[in-house]
Amino acid sequence: MPTQTLSDEASSPSDPSRSAPPVEHTTAKQAAGWHPGSWADRPAGQQPDWPDRAALAASLAELRRRPPLVFAGEARRLTEHLGRVCAGKAFVLQAGDCAESFELSTADQIRDRLKVILQMAVVMQYSAGLPIVKVGRIAGQFAKPRSSATETRNGQTLPVFRGHIVNDIAFEPAARAPDPSRLLQAYGTAAATLNLLRAFTRGGYADLRQVHDWNQAFVASSPAGRRYELLAGGIDAALRFMTACGLDTDASIMRQVELYTSHEALLLGYEEALTRTDSITGDWYDCSAHMLWVGERTRELDGAHVEFLRGVHNPIGAKLGPTATAGEALALCEALNPNRVPGRLTLISRVGAGKVAECYGPILRAVTDAGHPVVWQCDPMHGNTYSTEEGLKTRHFDAILAEIREYFAAHAAAGTWPGGIHLEITGDAVTECVGGGDELAQERLSDRYETMCDPRLNARQSLDLAFLASELLASARTGSS
Ligand code: PEP
Ligand code: CO
Repeated sequence: MPTQTLSDEASSPSDPSRSAPPVEHTTAKQAAGWHPGSWADRPAGQQPDWPDRAALAASLAELRRRPPLVFAGEARRLTEHLGRVCAGKAFVLQAGDCAESFELSTADQIRDRLKVILQMAVVMQYSAGLPIVKVGRIAGQFAKPRSSATETRNGQTLPVFRGHIVNDIAFEPAARAPDPSRLLQAYGTAAATLNLLRAFTRGGYADLRQVHDWNQAFVASSPAGRRYELLAGGIDAALRFMTACGLDTDASIMRQVELYTSHEALLLGYEEALTRTDSITGDWYDCSAHMLWVGERTRELDGAHVEFLRGVHNPIGAKLGPTATAGEALALCEALNPNRVPGRLTLISRVGAGKVAECYGPILRAVTDAGHPVVWQCDPMHGNTYSTEEGLKTRHFDAILAEIREYFAAHAAAGTWPGGIHLEITGDAVTECVGGGDELAQERLSDRYETMCDPRLNARQSLDLAFLASELLASARTGSS
């Protein structure tokens, strides 16, 4: 995790109420008419219908008293890294769960998710020779947008599952009732997850000399796992060579990695309660994660989510599905990054295989022509979901890879830099997506189908994808240099 001095810590706003902005924190750089609660005057989609408003107010008040989870200075550092991505000098790997679970936020589970991210990043960094900016969908990815507010089974209708920050997945009235005490549980789980990630990434676990240890046994026995062992052997040899040359392979840059956290900024009350002013710059930061994004279902220009995100200074993302137009993308650029700060805005395309040239091409051209600096990212997951006859949501590895290929091709054609990929993965040996090096068959999906929301690539499939993506990245790099 990034390091920061305590002087960078964001302070609490003196007035915690949402409707009255604390005047002393207003800076010249603050977005006009914005304050952390200004979203409440706009239509906010995807918010739960909390049955107990007094309990909600009490949880939000408690959250406002809690310390920030991340520091403003760390978020700024991520913006700088992403600025290098804009300039074609680095690539982003953003990956993690579709929906994190309170119960599965165990030490082993967190470690295994980290292992896959580290493995994927080192494969891409080694093969393409480029810095990989690592952003986890982790330590806060607890809220899910849903296509319907309710779910009906056998004639019984209950509120839909909206992620562990709101309710539980069991189809029972008590489990499905939105429960505001979960906001505090989400904060606590995010804090514990982040604490462990900071320990792992700074305490020697992410040391490049541990590169073999990131290969879990069930991954090591796969073809991708064996290929990884060869690559790790190459890294060992390179480190020995560097040591022999007298270079310091004991330096902290070899022993630590920077892993940033991110989640969809969906539950605006929660995000607002963790929004604080930075004591150094006086700017507002959403201190629930380093990076936040607005989802495909809540990205309306005059909606509450865009209103909230336009005023926080974190790096932010916006998902763009197949119906997004070039005009909408440009309007989002103007609203979310009017000062055209490189690294501030990531546009995340999730259009589906076969649709990239048609749906993403015009957006790519319009935003480039307008001179907006954006990180272009491909989410090859959300446009390629389908349900089996048994009703299991899945994705085919080939469709995921095809969308990534089309994305690289679109950038090669436009002469622009393909900045990153955004994936739903897990460190476990789940069976949720079909295909990959193992040719996981549809009939095997129910063997270990554990996701609470969308199907994730398992650790073997994730490593497979990293090798294939690194080949595309290596040729994009050669083409652009
Ligand atoms: C997600 O990233 O899990 C998600 C819901 O994405 P989208 O907003 O693109 O559908
Ligand atoms: Co998802």
